[in-house]
Order: sequence, then C-alpha cells, then structure tokens
Amino acid sequence: MRSRGRSRTREDRGPVTKHHVDDTFARYAAEYGLTPPGEETVTDDPPYGDRWTTWDDSTAGERGPRPYPDWVVTDLGAVDTELGILKTGKESDVFLLERSVPGTERATLMAAKRYRDPKHRMFHRDVGYREGRRDKESRVNRAIAKGSAFGREAIAGQWARAEFDALTSLWSAGVTVPYPVQILGTELLMEFIGDGDGGAAPRLAQLRPTPDERDDLWDQLAHNLTLLALAGYAHGDLSAYNLLVHDGRLVVIDVPQIVDVVGNPHGREFLDRDVRNVGGWFTARGLDPRRVGDLSEALAKDARLA
Ligand SMILES: Nc1ncnc2c1ncn2[C@@H]1O[C@H](COP(=O)(O)OP(=O)(O)O)[C@@H](O)[C@H]1O
Ligand SMILES: [Mg+2]
Repeated sequence: MRSRGRSRTREDRGPVTKHHVDDTFARYAAEYGLTPPGEETVTDDPPYGDRWTTWDDSTAGERGPRPYPDWVVTDLGAVDTELGILKTGKESDVFLLERSVPGTERATLMAAKRYRDPKHRMFHRDVGYREGRRDKESRVNRAIAKGSAFGREAIAGQWARAEFDALTSLWSAGVTVPYPVQILGTELLMEFIGDGDGGAAPRLAQLRPTPDERDDLWDQLAHNLTLLALAGYAHGDLSAYNLLVHDGRLVVIDVPQIVDVVGNPHGREFLDRDVRNVGGWFTARGLDPRRVGDLSEALAKDARLA
C-alpha cells in the first residue's frame, strides 16, 4: 500500500553506528523511526523529526480494544509529527504526537509514552533511577528469575507492554483511563488527555478545587476505584500526580504496575495504600476523613477481600 519511502522502517535503518559527540537525536530518531537530520533529502521520508504512521507496524494484539474510537487514525498514509514533550521522568518520557493524513483534515493528538532503555537514556540520571519503584522492579526481577532472557531494552519494552495491557483491561472494565491506541516496542501510544490545541490536562495535585468540586472529584475517584476493585485490581501507585482532570473529568493514568489484589498475598495492603495516598490529598483539602476509611472498606468488599 505504501508508495513513498516506506521501506525505510525502524528495522531497516538499523542501529546508528557512528558515535559523534552529538548523536543523541540521531540515536533517538533511529529508535522511534523519526527522520534524522538530512535524511529527508536522500529518501522520501517525511520531514525531519516526523515519521510514517506506525499503526500498521503493530499487530492486532498490539492495538487497542475494538471498536476503535472514531478519532483513531488508521490510514496507512498518515504521518506522525512530534509536537513536544509533555513530561520527562525517570523511567519514561511522555511526548505529544499528532497523527494526521496529509492533504486532509484528518488529525488526532496522542500521548506517546516512551519507556527508557536504562543504557540509552536521553538524559543522565544515574542517581535514583527506579527509586521508590520497588514493586515494578521486583516484578521484573521475578520475571528474570523465572528464566526469561531479555535485555535492558526488553525490560523497557515489558513495562510498555504491561501498561498497554493494563490500560486495555481497565478501559474494558469501564475505568476512565486514556484509550490505549497501540504498543510498539518501548513506545505506548494512547489518547491524549487535554484540549485540541495540545494543552495537557493538569494533574489533580495542581488543582485548588472548591468544596463542591472536591466532592465531585472524590466521587469520580471512588467510582473508578470501585470498578478497579470489582475487576480485582489496585492501581499500585495511586497519587494526586497519577490522576489528570480534564474539564472536570477525572482520568486515571500511569498504570503499568497495577496489582492483582486477589492473587496477591498483600492485596488488601495495596488497596489501602492507594486509598490512603490519594485520600491524604483530599482530606488536606477538607474532605471528611471518614470517607477515606469507608472507601477502603468498600473496596476490600468489592474485591472480595473482606
Ligand atoms: N494520556 C495523557 N494525556 C496527557 N498527558 C499525559 C498522558 N499520559 C501522561 N501524561 C503526562 O505525563 C506525565 C507522566 O506520565 P505518567 O504516566 O504518570 O508517567 P511517570 O511514570 O513518568 O509518572 C503525567 O503526569 C501527565 O502530565
Ligand atoms: Mg506518574
């Protein structure tokens, strides 16, 4: 189907072998299939920093649940344009990406969460890497201990896959999470939570809600956690930083470490910890603390742990 330069895929380009002082972008571009500087003059790839859509590089199992929402761009001639960085983190960076069909009005914004290969991080953050993420680490360690042979990049890819799978389960359970569009290697593409101009939704932690808004957000949180508990999960890293609020709507994010509370001997502790962590933000803003304890109890019942 593809007529223009599509043979130059991420794989065809292969690793960038020349190591100049400033090869950061070139290496990065090769990893995510972006057109490196100068390349567009010798191939007919999209302009510098763009790439052909990766939609058809993902297999059926690497795409979000059907039916695909109508905003998902599935055209094979679409181009992905990087519009900027939303957040850099220790294990991943989140970018704003537009997928559009040249010559048409068809365009959509997505958040691209790229898990870092610890060896090829863009920035030097050797101190504190994975700090405070023991749950994640032990899960990977267990996988290694079980005999799975995978390298550093595979570990990054596993986290991306874990988050894609978690988003898929939660989306299907009705939890308000970003729709998972596709997973490819270490990159997860999901619904962008924000406005059409690329303005990202604030984290709950940034808000100063009125008492009515606070109570409404708490009700939405309780509703989402109830759906999670009924499906047998705790978020595992819940906080006012992993909840976005767009036009008053609460969206749960950052879910690679969701915990199967039924199969986990510490399931109840995970449920309680999530509620305590985010509950602290709400009680500091005037929520009746009894509601926090009540929610913990209710969730334990929903997950059949009490
Ligand atoms: N789907 C999304 N839409 C808009 N912004 C997002 C989205 N996903 C992540 N972000 C932004 O990126 C930040 C980091 O994402 P998160 O999944 O929490 O990763 P981390 O592991 O770095 O905490 C979020 O706090 C939010 O600001
Ligand atoms: Mg986070």
